[in-house]
Amino acid sequence: MAAAEGTPGVFVTGTSTEVGKTVVAAVIARTLAAEGKRVAVFKPAVTGLEEEGETDHALLRRASGSNQSDEEIAPYRYGPPASPHLAAALAAEEIDPERLHQAAREAAADADAIVCEGVGGLLVPLSPTYLVRDLAVDLGYPLIVVASPSLGTINHTLLTLESARGAGLEVTAVVLNPWPDEPSEIEPDNRETIARLGEVRVETVPQLNLSDPSSWPPLQI
Ligand SMILES: Nc1ncnc2c1ncn2[C@@H]1O[C@H](COP(=O)(O)OP(=O)(O)OP(=O)(O)O)[C@@H](O)[C@H]1O
Ligand SMILES: [Mg+2]
Repeated sequence: MAAAEGTPGVFVTGTSTEVGKTVVAAVIARTLAAEGKRVAVFKPAVTGLEEEGETDHALLRRASGSNQSDEEIAPYRYGPPASPHLAAALAAEEIDPERLHQAAREAAADADAIVCEGVGGLLVPLSPTYLVRDLAVDLGYPLIVVASPSLGTINHTLLTLESARGAGLEVTAVVLNPWPDEPSEIEPDNRETIARLGEVRVETVPQLNLSDPSSWPPLQI
């Protein structure tokens, strides 16, 4: 966990959408909160609010014990399950990077640590000219890369590491999620191969009962 402007933090990205960024960010936030830290959470934009289920900002708030409002956690929130640049365009607006920087600074100001979640993967556009990767660079926090433990993950994960490092981002760890209770020969080899070829620490998170954060194993970053 590194400090950009005082408050230490991490930026949780992933190889794609639906790989478990929110779950892993929630586990990191919960781990910090259980150590007695005041934890802020942040997500630049949430899309798909019209779909069923707990929102990313609600799970992040619950896991961290934060009392931030929806607006303070996620300044831009949209109904359609689309890339943020498109969801914003459908609402006749454009995501403003400066507003994101300001909101992240304000979230971090009152906290001992901040856990940020990206949107989709690193090269997803937040606006037509501003990618998630640009935001990660501007915020200055090291990355956690969430990936599947299954077949296909070596390529997706190594591509993401290359893209991150190409932009000068530091990668703290890859987290394979959800790690199966009974792995085949594939998952342990994926873990070892990503660690070796990606020259990176690799952690795992098992299938969790999301309704009970106190049952989650800690993940120290
Ligand atoms: N370790 C886990 N234990 C239980 N459920 C999980 C776990 N990881 C992921 N899930 C479930 O898989 C789905 C996708 O996870 P999650 O929402 O964290 O992905 P994401 O990468 O944040 O997606 P998005 O790109 O939409 O933000 C969710 O329904 C979540 O509840
Ligand atoms: Mg999410």
